[in-house]
Amino acid sequence: MDVIQTRDELQRWIGERRDRKRVLVPTMGALHRGHTSLFDRAAEIAGANGDVLATIFVNPTQFGPNEDFDAYPRQLKDDLAQCEAHGVTAIFAPEPDEMYEANASISINESRLSTHLCGASRPGHFDGVCLVVAKLFILTQANVAVFGEKDFQQLAIIRRLVRDLNFPIEIVGGETVREPDGLAMSSRNAYLSPEDRRAAPVIQQALREASLGITDGKIATPQEALAAMRNTIEETRGATIDYLAVVDAASLEPLDKFGMAQARLLAAVFFGKTRLIDNIGVPGSVS
Ligand code: PAJ
Repeated sequence: MDVIQTRDELQRWIGERRDRKRVLVPTMGALHRGHTSLFDRAAEIAGANGDVLATIFVNPTQFGPNEDFDAYPRQLKDDLAQCEAHGVTAIFAPEPDEMYEANASISINESRLSTHLCGASRPGHFDGVCLVVAKLFILTQANVAVFGEKDFQQLAIIRRLVRDLNFPIEIVGGETVREPDGLAMSSRNAYLSPEDRRAAPVIQQALREASLGITDGKIATPQEALAAMRNTIEETRGATIDYLAVVDAASLEPLDKFGMAQARLLAAVFFGKTRLIDNIGVPGSVS
């Protein structure tokens, strides 16, 4: 496995592999089984004649002034071992000044999908994600990039970035990997107190119950789905809802009825200062 730190080294590495399929998996490190499942998926897509290129970069432009950029866990040695064990061919792990010019004056602004849900409480966050992901697409010249459904709004916005800016890359979504009790894996789960950690699976429970209720016909409208999820989560000590939403899976527009679009249920819930997100599909929501 090659570890690449500069853009020049990356261009040399790409030059040596011109004819091979290249599958990109962008991450911020602090890797867990959610990330390694994306490496496995990427390795399948790359096949024997392709390469999996993982990137590890804690991207400063997507963190707000009061967010956890400095505290974000950095554990490169452990990350490299996990990449090695999951078929990653090379890792691009640049320093911030390798990715950003000190006086950079061009940015990207997404003005529709990022205005609500997580975007509402994290102004500028998705613009920072679009900027770094666009740079990674350009620098790596990958054919395919894999992103997790765990960050469903991010995945939808990246698909939009590719559509609107004509990036010649295919985007693949990977299923959310969970702890045995259903909590979606996240590096931020480590911030939870033991009591909050025990309570946190209620997010997935509420989403799953609502999704099943819609499929079974027990829940007829998005309003009923929202009320059911709200009840389940509000009963839980320590849980404070940031948002619950029933949206069209592609446009992220809120749905006012079922049947016309693929529905997706999304939730963001605070436990203490830690904000956790999760989402679930609704099989059979289009009629
Ligand atoms: P990060 O939070 O490190 O996540 C990297 C990738 O792993 C994302 O595509 C995310 O959706 C996926 N992921 C995280 N937890 C997962 C889980 N439990 N199951 C499946 N996939 C999971 O997302 C980012 O980094 C950054 O915003 C990035 C795209 C790298 C741009 O800086």
